[in-house]
Amino acid sequence: MLRIEKLYKKYNRKENALDGLDLLVDKGELYGFVGPNGAGKTTTLRIITGLLKADSGEIWLDGQRTTKDMKLQKSMIGYVPDFFGMYENLTVMEYLEFFAASYGIYQKAGTVRSYEVLELVNLRGVEDVFVDEMSRGMQQRLCLARALLNRPRLLVLDEPSSGLDPRTRKEFQLLLQQLQKEGYTILISSHILSELSDMCTSIGIINQGKMVLQGKIDHIMLSIDSSNPVRITVLNKVEQAVRLLRANPLVDRISVEENKIAAWFSGSREEEAALLRNLVEAGILVSAFAREQNSLESLFFHLTDAAKEGENV
Ligand SMILES: Nc1ncnc2c1ncn2[C@@H]1O[C@H](COP(=O)(O)OP(=O)(O)OP(=O)(O)O)[C@@H](O)[C@H]1O
Ligand SMILES: [Mg+2]
Repeated sequence: MLRIEKLYKKYNRKENALDGLDLLVDKGELYGFVGPNGAGKTTTLRIITGLLKADSGEIWLDGQRTTKDMKLQKSMIGYVPDFFGMYENLTVMEYLEFFAASYGIYQKAGTVRSYEVLELVNLRGVEDVFVDEMSRGMQQRLCLARALLNRPRLLVLDEPSSGLDPRTRKEFQLLLQQLQKEGYTILISSHILSELSDMCTSIGIINQGKMVLQGKIDHIMLSIDSSNPVRITVLNKVEQAVRLLRANPLVDRISVEENKIAAWFSGSREEEAALLRNLVEAGILVSAFAREQNSLESLFFHLTDAAKEGENV
């Protein structure tokens, strides 16, 4: 759906804001674009949406090369920017109809489409409310509704959760997941990794204008998980359990402390479950069996710090 190759962008400063960035988003994905402040997320998203020009690099959208065609980019993308403008004395309906008209959807068609997008973002009955009197969470939904007006092939959101309380944030996440299930391809940026990791299908980590890691979230989690041991507590037959684990080709090494076993294991989640079944079927009483997870955050710190150290050398 979206392919970016070797994107470079320099503002009027010494170093590149984007330094050869590659990025790949497949159709139907909810792609999380993560990186520390100043990494280049907003710059990338503004280039993708055609609001900013890159110095060099290539962009393809749905098979079409859009690098030099900002108009095409704008027509294919719905963009939710990081700042919501001020709209005094404008009701929700006036606001949406105004933007619908800017996409060439006029009058009756504009009104109909406005109702449709309000429905899509679960905002109903607010047509006559003034935009600047809405809560931040509702404004965020409205902004999303606006981005959906022209039925974009790709939805791009820049840190949409900043300034939202946890509940509103969660609701917004669910809304994005719902849109993804309906077939939208979504690219969303954040500097909070944990916020994206439980809703995205893929993530890309950017640091100092470069992609340092990207891929399907399941693959990434698995590769991280496999560096953690499976921690097993057994209530009987410790030696038999150890023998059984050693015999498993996916177990790399084991450490045992009384009835607690740590097994470094390179299998998938399913293979992990099968390992547990083997133990239980051998008559071993297993009272705990778990692999430490959620070290995505530490991977993020590692990747973004390592690059920083590299620069100082
Ligand atoms: N208009 C501008 N003029 C000059 N430098 C800029 C401009 N916009 C961004 N930069 C610089 O480019 C780099 C990338 O900024 P960008 O806003 O893309 O980062 P970001 O990942 O979106 O950060 P944040 O998480 O803070 O939103 C930063 O070093 C920033 O200072
Ligand atoms: Mg930004």
